[in-house]
Amino acid sequence: RTMTRRRLLGSSAAAVGAVGAGAGIYGVADSAERTEAVTGTETVAWDGPRQAGIATAPPQAHAIFVGLDLLPKVGAAELTGIMKVWTADIARLTQGRPALADTEPELAAAPARLTVTVGYGPGVFVALDRPEVAPPLPAFAIDRLDPAYTGADLALQVCADDPVTVAHAVRVLVKNVRSLVTVRWMQRGFRRARGAETPGTTMRNLMGQVDGTTNPEAGTADFDSLVWDDGTDRPWMREGTTMVLRRIRIELDTWDELDRPGRELSVGRTLSTGAPLTGAYESDEPDFSATDRNGIPVIPPSAHIARARHTHAGERIFRRVYNYDDPPAPGQVSNSGLLFVSFQRDITTQFLPIQRRLDEFDALNEWTTPVGSAVFVIPPGVGSGSYIGEGLFG
Ligand code: HEM
Repeated sequence: RTMTRRRLLGSSAAAVGAVGAGAGIYGVADSAERTEAVTGTETVAWDGPRQAGIATAPPQAHAIFVGLDLLPKVGAAELTGIMKVWTADIARLTQGRPALADTEPELAAAPARLTVTVGYGPGVFVALDRPEVAPPLPAFAIDRLDPAYTGADLALQVCADDPVTVAHAVRVLVKNVRSLVTVRWMQRGFRRARGAETPGTTMRNLMGQVDGTTNPEAGTADFDSLVWDDGTDRPWMREGTTMVLRRIRIELDTWDELDRPGRELSVGRTLSTGAPLTGAYESDEPDFSATDRNGIPVIPPSAHIARARHTHAGERIFRRVYNYDDPPAPGQVSNSGLLFVSFQRDITTQFLPIQRRLDEFDALNEWTTPVGSAVFVIPPGVGSGSYIGEGLFG
């Protein structure tokens, strides 16, 4: 009987049976018949001093970033209401349980390391009459910002290894507060599918580059001091951080015209391994002073890594980027780029000096254009009995 049913349902249905073992619709497939390990049941803790989705490693394969605006009637009381609803939804969905009154409860059964990170844009602090806390970024000469992807009062970063899980979580979180907010933008991003590469492989962006090599490692003291706020200036920000989201279009058609050496010189690293042009391995430290026999720097001073490199240890950020590849406009063949996402304790002293240098000059600028930009304060994490932002609103 089981065999017949399996034949009828096919192997993918058997795999679904394994994920939904609790539901028991199809029963658990024989391990011998299973060809892939099921990872959709894995969860990431939703509670703790810090919000999830930042140090969560490796970054999940799929993400949707949602920018929402507060309706004019929203003040501190309504914001508190939104945060209570979201906290309850996040506590359940990330642990594989349907949200309260979830209209598609079955979709919650595969949390696939779902994390939801909540951020506050400048508008929240205006609503609270504290506009000095989180000012927007200054304008940069390289920017060609589309208002459709710029700014927002609230942000949700929803990440999971499965795109259905992400879509369901976004749907629940947004519809549950729709009387108080409007959606300004949604930006979808992806990295390699879970299991597609050896764990630990640094991701590649759609330009083909290894992207993320020089990044503080989650869980280290170095990462902690660069990312998490210690609450000195604002006690309610202790264990919080900030997020910069820049939507950066990549001109793949002109990038295609550049030969491989040209591509490698523009970044300062080889395409095959991600090693600096002065080294052999991805992990090798770049040597910015090395010159060839004609005295020409091996890594051009205009290369992206030369321009982006910190000038002192405190001027570093944690990048957790995603690719995007959306439908092209009529007459175009691609609409691709990078959802550049960075977390840092202090935007002014860590992110801004780097962005200013890249704005001034960066060889990569010829093929990259920032088309969206937003900044958010990421308040600390929560435990049962509290809600996100309680220290700020409470
Ligand atoms: C490094 C790509 C935008 C900051 C790199 C690397 C690549 C890369 C391939 C070398 C490997 C690595 O260490 O990750 C890109 C692309 C961008 C972009 C394709 C836009 C589409 C930005 C922006 C910033 C930034 C907007 C910050 C404002 C950095 C930093 C490094 C880096 C700090 C490490 C430099 C070092 O110390 O070696 N990027 N990047 N990048 N990027 Fe970018």
